[in-house]
Amino acid sequence: MKKYLYIYNYSPNEKELCEMEFKQIFDENMKSKYYFSNLNFPYQRSVFIKGRLDIINISHQFKNIVEDIKQKKLCYYHFKVIYLKNEITHVDYQESLQRCKDIAFPIDGSVNMQNPQTVFAITKIKDQWIFGIYHDEMTWSLRYHKPHSYSHSLNVRDARTLVNIAVGNNENMTIVDPCCGIGTVVLEALSMGLNIRGYDINRDVSYQARLNLEHFGYDPLFIERKDIHHLKQHFDVAIMDIPYGVYSPFTYKQQVSLIEATTNITHRLVLVTHICMNEELERIGYQIIDQCQIIKGQFKRYITLCERGNI
Ligand SMILES: C[S@@+](CC[C@H](N)C(=O)[O-])C[C@H]1O[C@@H](n2cnc3c(N)ncnc32)[C@H](O)[C@@H]1O
Repeated sequence: MKKYLYIYNYSPNEKELCEMEFKQIFDENMKSKYYFSNLNFPYQRSVFIKGRLDIINISHQFKNIVEDIKQKKLCYYHFKVIYLKNEITHVDYQESLQRCKDIAFPIDGSVNMQNPQTVFAITKIKDQWIFGIYHDEMTWSLRYHKPHSYSHSLNVRDARTLVNIAVGNNENMTIVDPCCGIGTVVLEALSMGLNIRGYDINRDVSYQARLNLEHFGYDPLFIERKDIHHLKQHFDVAIMDIPYGVYSPFTYKQQVSLIEATTNITHRLVLVTHICMNEELERIGYQIIDQCQIIKGQFKRYITLCERGNI
């Protein structure tokens, strides 16, 4: 029996990005929005994971689940039981209510529907009943609004996803965002407890980025004003959202020069570009591992994961 059921949700235009993230976290292709795993992944890291069920029991027979609860003599104060609807197997509303009551009845302690400390969930996927403790906290939305932002900043959802693509489930990797703007990626990585540093050549922008860090309780010195060409330290992975010359002039040659500069600081790169830079990446010595596009209205961005050297 697997330990966890991860429940995914994404909008149609985020599907490819979600799949790219999933592959780096779980090391396989995504086949369903319902993923059973033994990996204890901090689910709040992904904006696509709606919740995680820590599985207590799985059975073809609902009565076995109830019997198991009795045998385990579960006792919880302030709990509630919910039915988790899923897109695979439909259970009608009346039945789902009854199943919740049947589950709650043998659990000792006290029910608290308004403010539960523990949420139990039951669901049926194909011919199996799955019961466990459900978690769905979502703290990252607190950073939707920052004291300082600008129009070409990444949004929080995309920034978090880039971090997950960069490190997968390896929380020990060192990360750099060498063109960090107002620090969206840096903030998200710090909120996940990861080791990241940010740099930006622009004095005002890097100052505002430090104020953003300070606002959310992080050390502002994790961001410095520096040109990527002067960075010496090596990092396990870089996340770079390069200027595209949409709002201010920034030539193709300058963009290529930034990508070339990453070779001094990392062998693994998550690159955000406005146009496909695969030819340049390969010329520089990167091998493309995965790629997708984020399309928002007229605005298209390429997300490319690539590596150099002995992969
Ligand atoms: C697209 S913006 C990054 C936005 C950022 N991801 C965010 O969410 O705020 C690109 C940034 O690269 C910075 N930049 C341009 N040339 C640079 C260089 N040579 N070294 C470091 N940063 C540079 C610019 O100042 C700009 O803030």
